[in-house]
Amino acid sequence: MKALVTGASGQLGRALAARLGPSAHALARAQLDVTDAAAVSAALDSIRPDVVINATAYNKVDGAESEPEAAFAVNATAVLNLALAAQRVGARLVHVSTDYVFDGAQSRPYVEDDVPRPINTYGRSKRAGEMMVEAVRGPALLLRTSGVFGPGGSRAKGGSFVDRILERARTGATLRVVDDQRFAPTFAPDLAAALVTLVERKATGTVHVTNAGACSWYELARAALELADVPATVDRISSAELAAPARRPLYSVLSNARFADLTGAPLRPWREALAEMLGR
Ligand SMILES: NC(=O)c1ccc[n+]([C@@H]2O[C@H](COP(=O)([O-])OP(=O)(O)OC[C@H]3O[C@@H](n4cnc5c(N)ncnc54)[C@H](OP(=O)(O)O)[C@@H]3O)[C@@H](O)[C@H]2O)c1
Repeated sequence: MKALVTGASGQLGRALAARLGPSAHALARAQLDVTDAAAVSAALDSIRPDVVINATAYNKVDGAESEPEAAFAVNATAVLNLALAAQRVGARLVHVSTDYVFDGAQSRPYVEDDVPRPINTYGRSKRAGEMMVEAVRGPALLLRTSGVFGPGGSRAKGGSFVDRILERARTGATLRVVDDQRFAPTFAPDLAAALVTLVERKATGTVHVTNAGACSWYELARAALELADVPATVDRISSAELAAPARRPLYSVLSNARFADLTGAPLRPWREALAEMLGR
């Protein structure tokens, strides 16, 4: 299987490149800007991949509120570029989306057929990307995930949430972390492994993939501090107190039942993956 990975310098992109090894064409933004339709078309013509895995994103949830064009360019228009080019060369497209396509009004895990109702610009731009994949109707896998963390984190977000928490705690500062948003943290290397398994099994349609379990940002921060053995005072605050520019869903846990049906087992609990990342 010849794979082309876009966004190869991101959290998921790096994990995919490591997983797939040197046989994959893993291209960072400097090698392929996915918003450039002609460049995307030329890259697919020259590489002729069997599968195109899009690990790019405009990921700044708050930033998207003030720069929606940039968010839609990467999260929607670029997905159309990739979907059309993949269809033209006969490649399968694997696109990654987010729990933030849901509004968070539910109190049971979201299944693939639940109706997306994004409540912020990032979520709307990602939903638009999903609709591009659906509209082109080529063979495609749409994988939704949540709370991605991994070594080095996301450059656009200034590193991973876990690293930022540990760094701030080591300065002795009191931390204030939101405790009223529930989601499933997902370890980038586990997500990459799951994605590759789904590709090997030729899965198509939408599949939700996260590590097992759920928590709030406060609980994730506490777990990281405990596992890394860093003492800190952590105040739990509400989303309203944080007053971030973008609203977030208060509940965005994704059901992994379809993933488990397709592959035989769900991913391990998020805390186990976090312990691995922190060397425990
Ligand atoms: N992070 C999360 O918590 C989270 C949650 C739910 C879903 N997801 C989804 O999971 C996927 C992977 O996210 P991630 O955490 O790995 O993101 P990430 O670490 O921020 O990586 C995104 C990558 O996209 C690249 N990129 C941005 N614009 C580009 C462009 N125009 N052309 C080419 N590359 C471009 C970035 O390159 P530069 O480094 O050069 O900017 C970066 O390498 C995304 O679809 C995201 O929406 C993430």
